[in-house]
Amino acid sequence: MKRIAVLTSGGDAPGMNAAIRAVVRTGIEHGWEVYGVEHGYSGLVDGDFREMGPRSVGGIIQQGGTILGSARCPEFKTEDGRRKALRELNRHEIEALVVIGGNGSQTGASELHKMGFPVVGVASTIDNDLYGSQITIGVDTALNIALEAIDRLKVTASSHGRAFLVEVMGRNCGYLALMAGIAGGAEAVCIPEFETSPELLADQIQLAYERGKAHAIVVVAEGAKYNAEELAHYFEENNERLGFALRVTTLGHVQRGGMPGAFDRLLGTRLAAMATEQIAKGNFGVLAGQLKGEITTTPYEEVVANKKELDPQLFDLAQSLAR
Ligand code: ADP
Ligand code: F6P
Repeated sequence: MKRIAVLTSGGDAPGMNAAIRAVVRTGIEHGWEVYGVEHGYSGLVDGDFREMGPRSVGGIIQQGGTILGSARCPEFKTEDGRRKALRELNRHEIEALVVIGGNGSQTGASELHKMGFPVVGVASTIDNDLYGSQITIGVDTALNIALEAIDRLKVTASSHGRAFLVEVMGRNCGYLALMAGIAGGAEAVCIPEFETSPELLADQIQLAYERGKAHAIVVVAEGAKYNAEELAHYFEENNERLGFALRVTTLGHVQRGGMPGAFDRLLGTRLAAMATEQIAKGNFGVLAGQLKGEITTTPYEEVVANKKELDPQLFDLAQSLAR
């Protein structure tokens, strides 16, 4: 092995830079040249590669985002697009690729691996919807940002005796919403995995009012059947009696842009070091992730064939705590 490359793909996540840094520095330690690919699969298809050294990843471990840039690249979903990427990898004499990204990115990496290219993945997405890693890079920081917002909203909600629908990210996955709901002491959560009807949510808000609470916080995942705006519209249209006056806050991309906390810096570093170790061993077509507290790998066939499930007991717990 002489030369490897690394890219970040999909939604950026705090801790991706720690992972890039660790790929570059452990790669150099293994005796390889390390190239960075700009803007995920777009850069792979277009041949945007640059050589990286220990100094080019200096001072980035504490930075959010990704110094390589990230992208959604529809072209890579086509076989033609992936063939172009393969041509660029061969033209730059790259012998293995590290893909730092979430569900979609790892599905793309698995397709590239099926076409015969040696790939290793690093589990990174704030959504935490990737099979093969119980926690992915970025989740912890994003969760803490959501929590800070919820704590602040509670203050103003209590002053005015209001209910807030707080929408957090999570395309098809309610992990962030559920955990933010439990850790933020929310009165209710609304997530795609366990459907709650708008009528039931209205009842839960009204119950909080009748119990004499000063506020009610409902954490809504963006991927839930009804998002926060739709729920507010429904309550208004149906004259649902909530007790509280209602406000809506959508946190959106604010959650992705944070400075990574200790957990994400360490996870990013350890998963990336695991990825270069696999390259050294010639163990390709695997995802580096964390399972039962251990840094480990899962074959891509297993990663793409399985959906990460959310523990129903946590949903029940969120409801029991909202008294
Ligand atoms: P994330 O990795 O954060 O889940 P996306 O789902 O947007 O983000 O995926 C990132 C990129 O991965 C896509 O823009 C596309 O280039 C690639 N990708 C996603 N799904 C596939 C697929 N089924 N086949 C090939 N490439 C894919
Ligand atoms: O995949 C992570 C994520 O932040 C999702 O939670 C969200 O739905 C999506 O990315 C937003 O994508 P974009 O950055 O392209 O708007």
